[in-house]
Amino acid sequence: MQNVLDHLNSTRDVALSELCDFLRIPSISADSKYVPDMHRCADWVRKSMEEAGLNAQIFPTKGHSIVYGELIRDPGLPTVLVYGHYDVQPPDPLNLWTTPPFEPQVRAGKLFARGATDDKGQLFTHLKSIAAWMKVNGKLPVNVKVLIEGEEEVGGANLDHFLETHGDLLKADVAVVSDTSQYGDGIPAITCGLRGIVAAEVRLKGPSKDLHSGIYGGSIANPVNALARMCGMLVGADGRIQIPGFYDDVQELTAIELEQYAALPFSEADFLKEVGSSATFGEAGYTTLQRRTARPTCDINGIVGGYTGEGPKTIIPSRATAKITCRLVPVMKPAKVLDALESFLQSNCPAGIEFEFKRFHGCEAFVFDPTSDWLTAARKAVETAFGQPPVLVREGGSIPVVLSFKQILGLDTLLLGWGRNSDNLHSPDEHIHVEDFHRGTLASACLWAELAKVRS
Ligand code: BES
Ligand code: ZN
Repeated sequence: MQNVLDHLNSTRDVALSELCDFLRIPSISADSKYVPDMHRCADWVRKSMEEAGLNAQIFPTKGHSIVYGELIRDPGLPTVLVYGHYDVQPPDPLNLWTTPPFEPQVRAGKLFARGATDDKGQLFTHLKSIAAWMKVNGKLPVNVKVLIEGEEEVGGANLDHFLETHGDLLKADVAVVSDTSQYGDGIPAITCGLRGIVAAEVRLKGPSKDLHSGIYGGSIANPVNALARMCGMLVGADGRIQIPGFYDDVQELTAIELEQYAALPFSEADFLKEVGSSATFGEAGYTTLQRRTARPTCDINGIVGGYTGEGPKTIIPSRATAKITCRLVPVMKPAKVLDALESFLQSNCPAGIEFEFKRFHGCEAFVFDPTSDWLTAARKAVETAFGQPPVLVREGGSIPVVLSFKQILGLDTLLLGWGRNSDNLHSPDEHIHVEDFHRGTLASACLWAELAKVRS
């Protein structure tokens, strides 16, 4: 084991420069202009897998390709399915980047580029650790299967189809995903829970055209008034969501979980600084950290309608639209939440207004068994590489593939994030701390050795 870590320590600059090559490819899945770059990037990943010693192959899909590689040494060893995504978010707004998003640059110990932390930098740690094991020992202590997709940032359905049709190929004992974060600066974490999500759009249609608000005002329902009222009814002043039945399937935190939350360091002042706000707000009876990770939410993501240009305009607008997402916790069911949301909004929609409700993606929340042997093994690996034991946390975000692994492949997932929530994911000046990238690579190398012990 030590020889692998020594090798990784002595070749850190090479790994970083290879990561820069990966980051130079603008693999933006959302924009069809970049299809050739998506192909180039998939091929780069395939080659990198082969250089690491995996047998790799590209699987075309209806959308962007999936890259899959494996290294099966002995069917008696545990098999680990590693997942990552090579696509990145669009870099806009470009003028807010200090240096161009696809020209990686190290400044003050941070490597800046789109995808540096989400997810190229994080997934590449696993390829480098596999390569190091193969180079130094000629073999890995576990079987590995590596699945790198190109549609995570656009929520493509092609991956689920691939999982459904390649069950045998992907058969494994546990999955590993590095697409979350450490708990805080210098506090590594293993994420044991993620919130689920449902997303919807409400469209209201009032009069067939914008009307003079003096001539017609007071005589028919105004769709913007109606939508504002309907949306305003969703969350009470005490932070409780007002949709009937919304909390029916919400599991409260257990006594042990409450203790774990209480033991985590949390500074309200630092938190407010991070988000750039002057006060917290949320459901009464819960702490900020609990509200952010273990309680359900209902948020309007955007609302449009009527005139918002310069100066006044006296109209009753004809239309109004809102986008809404709810974050879910165990054991809320996405379809049930959407049904409840739809009927609550519809029942509060005034006569004369046409109500349309469109449903988008959804996934359930996820919690990992904190007593699992896989988790204990992962904790040891993280502790060795980061110099201190990871805290176990729940995160507020959602990673639908984790649910797909459970539901389609029957696999539990270890969420091992090396980056930080402050790395500007999805924002300008995305970066990864060079030290986090390196420690992640060491943790990944230790992980194979620790997971190998689980069934022996
Ligand atoms: N990696 C994030 C989720 C994340 C980030 C979890 C940090 C925990 C800590 C992921 O790429 C993401 O942004 N997911 C989306 C999913 C949605 C579009 C279905 C989310 O949570 O909004
Ligand atoms: Zn993302």
